[in-house]
Amino acid sequence: MTENIIISKDEIQQKIKETGMLISKKYDGKPLLLVSILKGAFIFLADLCREITIPCEIGFMRVKSYYEGTSSSGDVKILMDIDQDIRNYHVIIVEDIIDTGRTLYDVVEKLKKRDPLSLEVVTLLDKPERRVTDFKADMSLFTIPDLFVVGYGLDCGEKYRNLPYIAEYSEDQ
Ligand code: IMP
Ligand code: MG
Repeated sequence: MTENIIISKDEIQQKIKETGMLISKKYDGKPLLLVSILKGAFIFLADLCREITIPCEIGFMRVKSYYEGTSSSGDVKILMDIDQDIRNYHVIIVEDIIDTGRTLYDVVEKLKKRDPLSLEVVTLLDKPERRVTDFKADMSLFTIPDLFVVGYGLDCGEKYRNLPYIAEYSEDQ
């Protein structure tokens, strides 16, 4: 198995520390809810929330995309929803990667309709070259080229989520 590590464990942890500090400052004194999109973002959420020094709540969503052909948005179904009423929270969606941007575009539209106090998106990885919507994250820890990557929560066929770093996926893995 070859491992082409593109972001090391240390680099990830360092950026997460900085992001945790930033969020702690920005949301100090505010009711904060971190919403993680399963499954890919579970490790990022677990590490990020432990670098946040202010009180916060956690929620999980699972969504499925039904995109066909060239449709650029509008086909995301919520399979599992958060249980909080977000009208009482400043919400940060915690995502693993933004690729075409279609999934998050729809999730954000759906959550905005529930009238949160505010809504932002933090993503571990961003692949802007692949975007088909004009979606932009508020916080993005790493911008990467158009590669298929695994590790740190991201999978290929449900495998490699447990790698502590981000690696480019190659067939001979
Ligand atoms: P999109 O932004 O709607 O295209 O989809 C984002 C989702 O596609 C992510 O949440 C991942 O589940 C998946 N995805 C996109 N690129 C990669 C990758 O390089 N590795 C693993 N999963 C990916
Ligand atoms: Mg995901």
